[in-house]
Amino acid sequence: MAAVFVLFLPILANAGLNSGCYACHGEKKFPGGYVDETLYSRSVHGQFSCSTCHVNITAFPHGTPRRVNCMLCHLTGTGGAPRTPALQYELSVHGTAVREGLAAAPHCQTCHGSHDILPPGDPHSRIYRKNIPRLCSRCHKAQYERYKKSIHARALFEMGMERAAVCYDCHEEHRVPNVTSPKWMLWLIGKCGSCHKRELATYRQTYHGQVTRLGYTTVAKCPDCHGAHGILPPSDPGSTLSQKNRLHTCRKCHPGASGGFTTYYAHPDDRDRRRYPQLYYTWLAMTILIVAVFAFFVVHTFLWAYRTLRERLKRKGE
Ligand code: HEC
Ligand code: HEC
Ligand code: HEC
Ligand code: HEC
Ligand code: HEC
Ligand code: HEC
Ligand code: HEC
Ligand code: HEC
Ligand code: HEC
Repeated sequence: MAAVFVLFLPILANAGLNSGCYACHGEKKFPGGYVDETLYSRSVHGQFSCSTCHVNITAFPHGTPRRVNCMLCHLTGTGGAPRTPALQYELSVHGTAVREGLAAAPHCQTCHGSHDILPPGDPHSRIYRKNIPRLCSRCHKAQYERYKKSIHARALFEMGMERAAVCYDCHEEHRVPNVTSPKWMLWLIGKCGSCHKRELATYRQTYHGQVTRLGYTTVAKCPDCHGAHGILPPSDPGSTLSQKNRLHTCRKCHPGASGGFTTYYAHPDDRDRRRYPQLYYTWLAMTILIVAVFAFFVVHTFLWAYRTLRERLKRKGE
């Protein structure tokens, strides 16, 4: 690794060369392509010479440049470039599609840009949290159209809830596993649950939740009931779980399901009196019963001990 870095040092240090490139490419209307010097110098790579990426261009006038390969540094870690994204991308649906020659699949630069790359925390960055749905929508319009109307999009864009789910929370920007992979399906349950802790805990108490914990995916997972991109509150008439749609949703897997299914508790919470009064009062009654039984035996044992002691003392006195 260190050797690779040393190899690159002379190029990295060669930023002075850039002024030569700007002589032509710094002109806004230059037909060979314009590079904004201010944006470039503010970008994460702003300190590098142009030829670190445009490797075969070192003199003017120059020949036809090769396609930029971000892996040069990001797969090797040259100069401290983060490596994880590149490693994950290589194994992803996107990376595989690129290797198989699918022209529509994204390279690093498709998502990140070229000369104006900013860190994910910068609101002007293409990869800033709020800009993600737009980024992915360039190629996944159908999913975006559904997502736009979901509670997650509304929470993020209208209610200012930064934490609401965007595409990469569920799909992971670089890893992007195949959506038919059982491993991903099981992982996603935990992911939904990282934001919806109470619902995950109550789901785990149900039959579906226990079977998925054992690693089987045929039973209902969160998206099977709630949907994926167009998730709405169950109280919304458009939700897959509204009174009108709920039975239809269960019937995907329980073809013979009858009206009883609509009263099923998918998130039974015996502490929630308002929502699940039956569960709550059963829990309360059981708790009172247990406490009463314990209290009775504590008092009983105490009195018993007291009496034994008194009788012993009495016998000693005699
Ligand atoms: C003398 C003017 C001049 C200088 C200096 C110059 N270039 Fe160019 N560059 C051009 C022209 C003209 C083209 C368009 C060539 C073409 O379309 O075949 C071009 C094209 C390019 C392209 C490809 C654009 C495309 O559309 O694919 C890249 C990348 C590039 N230059 C990088 C550089 C770098 C890096 C430097 C500095 C090392 C540099 N150039 C210096 C004139 C220049
Ligand atoms: C972090 C890598 C990186 C650095 C550093 C870099 N470029 Fe580029 N450049 C790219 C990418 C990516 C493209 C898009 C084409 C491609 O993917 O090969 C590109 C494209 C270009 C083009 C074609 C027009 C365009 O914008 O698509 C020109 C001209 C160019 N670069 C000039 C420069 C100059 C001049 C510098 C130095 C000031 C520079 N580049 C530094 C990555 C880089
Ligand atoms: C010359 C080596 C080199 C090349 C080529 C290169 N990078 Fe980088 N990149 C780095 C280094 C080093 C950093 C860390 C910069 C820092 O932290 O200040 C970095 C940082 C980044 C970051 C920001 C990380 C963060 O959390 O702030 C992104 C995004 C990025 N690179 C994407 C790309 C893309 C996309 C390409 C191809 C167009 C590319 N890089 C090409 C060396 C490189
Ligand atoms: C499908 C779009 C997409 C592709 C393709 C992609 N990235 Fe990213 N990348 C993202 C997003 C979105 C983030 C923001 C992640 C975050 O905020 O946690 C990101 C973040 C990064 C970061 C910053 C990581 C950090 O923790 O600071 C680096 C570095 C990076 N990408 C490099 C690359 C490289 C190198 C490639 C190509 C091998 C690549 N990316 C391909 C979308 C993409
Ligand atoms: C709350 C989690 C979640 C979010 C957010 C999410 N997805 Fe998905 N996505 C899924 C699930 C689950 C599937 C599996 C198939 C299904 O149930 O529709 C999926 C499937 C996909 C597929 C495969 C094709 C298909 O429709 O089955 C693509 C492409 C996709 N999502 C892109 C996106 C994009 C783009 C965004 C952001 C606009 C996004 N997803 C946001 C959970 C999510
Ligand atoms: C430049 C276009 C492009 C962009 C941008 C893009 N994708 Fe994709 N994506 C594709 C293509 C093409 C495929 C199909 C690969 C295949 O079928 O083999 C794909 C596949 C997927 C799949 C897998 C679908 C499946 O059937 O398993 C998911 C999930 C996905 N993308 C999510 C995302 C997310 C999330 C983003 C944004 C961070 C994103 N994509 C950005 C082009 C893109
Ligand atoms: C068998 C179908 C089913 C499964 C599986 C399921 N849910 Fe639910 N979910 C429901 C129903 C039905 C409701 C409506 C409230 C109720 O009846 O308990 C609901 C309500 C919710 C709510 C809204 C709670 C509120 O305050 O209104 C959230 C959030 C939620 N579920 C998240 C999840 C998550 C996360 C998972 C996976 C860990 C999951 N659900 C699994 C059916 C399901
Ligand atoms: C990154 C965090 C995050 C992830 C991941 C996430 N959500 Fe959400 N979700 C939110 C936020 C924030 C809201 C809006 C505030 C609220 O009502 O809780 C929300 C709202 C909801 C609602 C409506 C809640 C209500 O009050 O009626 C449901 C249902 C829901 N999410 C289900 C899911 C499911 C299913 C998944 C996984 C496929 C998931 N969420 C993944 C953050 C997330
Ligand atoms: C993705 C498919 C799927 C969906 C959607 C689904 N289930 Fe299930 N469920 C299963 C499977 C598989 C079983 C186990 C086999 C069986 O008993 O039919 C099961 C079992 C059950 C059981 C039996 C538990 C026991 O103790 O025997 C109940 C009750 C149940 N589901 C209710 C529901 C309700 C209510 C809905 C709709 C809100 C629903 N399911 C949606 C797949 C699903």
